[in-house]
Amino acid sequence: MVTVGVPISSRLAYLLRLSVVLILFSFASIDKANALGRFRNGRYDDGFLGEPSKFESLRRKPEPEDKWFVQKLNHFGEKNKDATWKQRYFVNDEFYRNDSTAPVFLMIGGEGEASKRWMSEGAWIKYAEHFGALCFQLEHRFYGKSHPTSDLSTKNLLYLTSEQALEDLANFIRSMKVEYKMDANQKWIVFGGSYPGSLAAWAREKFPDLIHGAISSSGPLLAKVDFKEYFEVVKASLATYSAECLEAVGRAFAQVEILTRHMIGQRNLDEKFKTCTPIKDSIDNPLDMSNFFETLAGNFAGVVQYNKDNRPSAKYTIDDLCNVMVNTTIGPPVTRLGVVNDMLLIESKEKCLDYKYDKMIAEMKETSWEAKACNGSRQWTYQTCNEFGFYQTSNNKSDTFGDRFTVDFFIKQCMDIYSESMNAKYLEQVVAQTNKYYGALKPNTTNVLYVHGSIDPWHALGLVSSKNPNLPTIYIEGTAHCANMYEPAKTDPPQLVEARNKIIKYLAQLLEGFKVEKS
Ligand SMILES: *[C@@H]1O[C@H](CO)[C@@H](O)[C@H](O)[C@H]1NC(C)=O
Ligand SMILES: *[C@@H]1O[C@H](CO)[C@@H](O)[C@H](O)[C@H]1NC(C)=O
Ligand SMILES: *[C@@H]1O[C@H](CO)[C@@H](O)[C@H](O)[C@H]1NC(C)=O
Ligand SMILES: *[C@@H]1O[C@H](CO)[C@@H](O)[C@H](O)[C@H]1NC(C)=O
Ligand SMILES: *[C@@H]1O[C@H](CO)[C@@H](O)[C@H](O)[C@H]1NC(C)=O
Repeated sequence: MVTVGVPISSRLAYLLRLSVVLILFSFASIDKANALGRFRNGRYDDGFLGEPSKFESLRRKPEPEDKWFVQKLNHFGEKNKDATWKQRYFVNDEFYRNDSTAPVFLMIGGEGEASKRWMSEGAWIKYAEHFGALCFQLEHRFYGKSHPTSDLSTKNLLYLTSEQALEDLANFIRSMKVEYKMDANQKWIVFGGSYPGSLAAWAREKFPDLIHGAISSSGPLLAKVDFKEYFEVVKASLATYSAECLEAVGRAFAQVEILTRHMIGQRNLDEKFKTCTPIKDSIDNPLDMSNFFETLAGNFAGVVQYNKDNRPSAKYTIDDLCNVMVNTTIGPPVTRLGVVNDMLLIESKEKCLDYKYDKMIAEMKETSWEAKACNGSRQWTYQTCNEFGFYQTSNNKSDTFGDRFTVDFFIKQCMDIYSESMNAKYLEQVVAQTNKYYGALKPNTTNVLYVHGSIDPWHALGLVSSKNPNLPTIYIEGTAHCANMYEPAKTDPPQLVEARNKIIKYLAQLLEGFKVEKS
């Protein structure tokens, strides 16, 4: 799901990856700076979940058409209670058995544009084929083309909450049951990865009469302001390559810190990291420096989170970065870190490293649907400030990523982007409310299977094991964020293949009314 901490323009891009969206990196011209950051709050700029596969050959033409559902703006209370808007969805009826026992699968959209490719690819489509299911995907309010309000002002973002999104799902299901003349016995199963993985579990929890079961992939259940465990997992994942790799990263960050202290060092950093503006002009602005360090750490976070998954944009792996970090021929660790940074700048088509805090904030304050930040970054960051926290911090001077991006840095962004009232106290309150409302790591669910990967930093906030037979889990050794959801590939490790087999068996039990599998 969500990583936090890369400078925003490059982060904006990363931020968007949290959900089901995709981006194909092409070798187009390298022409832009990116104040928003590629990978922000655990999210690439196309959302947390990538496209379902790398395989162009699977791309189906024609793609499913856009369909629109008239949805309520506000499911709670009197304010604007009659206002409606059009929510986008897709349908695939290719495998639908269309009898009174045929299941219905619903892929839950998340913090990015809903991807049409998921309507014909990905593991869930294999399951749909197997069970003869009708498939829907509902885009999340405020993302993609689902625009409930005329713009994204902070006032309008009040309608962007997970609770409203769950009501959207329930309303949608009720309507489709009528529209498709479904039998009361037909079972709805929801699927989601990353934030939609959380939504999948919560949807079953809140609407057990509408939703029979859920496969919740890589969904964080525990909201937390200071998500320091994130970089702990990043460290552990780098160490799976070698202890030397992790150590080299730590030494590189320590060297960057030392170079910031004098003019020659600062110029050296400008060269090594291709900064858009000289460090010497920013050195007295701690927010710029936080952004700088967070971007460098985010280079590793983004690669670890999506290590070796089958998404098309996952160009680099932990092995690629570590091969550089341990290569002493290149120079001292800080120089190797510069090479890693070059690789990721090129991947995201940025000509220089943009780390200016004010510029990032100015972009994030844009409220027009056409603005770059409104491609998901502004929305997702709002959700972190208003419901979840999830800030991927590092606050230990003697640790790998140093102490330059603490929780205050992220809370300051909430206050600067949306409202002064979104301060530390507010964050603590909303996060406590979220945990109380959904039950955090003690969800009141049956028929939900929780799936996580050990390499994925998000597993630290998810349910990875349980003694409660009502809370079955699969914890996949060595795989990254949402790995089980992507289109199966020949290169998949055996434990991933096994996980998908367990999921299909679980679905068989759910759909045939057998007892829920013990975890
Ligand atoms: C917005 O995101 C979509 C999907 O990730 C991408 O195709 C598009 O280019 C992005 N638009 C802008 C303006 O960044
Ligand atoms: C299901 O079958 C009914 C009755 O034959 C038909 O009217 C309907 O169009 C079918 N639905 C789908 C989605 O194929
Ligand atoms: C190490 O880096 C040097 C210089 O870039 C390169 O020529 C060499 O192939 C690298 N070694 C390995 C093992 O990747
Ligand atoms: C900071 O990091 C060092 C090195 O990893 C570790 O030994 C120490 O326990 C950490 N301190 C805290 C307060 O976590
Ligand atoms: C838990 O879920 C069950 C069945 O959905 C419901 O009846 C019960 O009220 C829920 N309990 C709590 C504490 O939410």
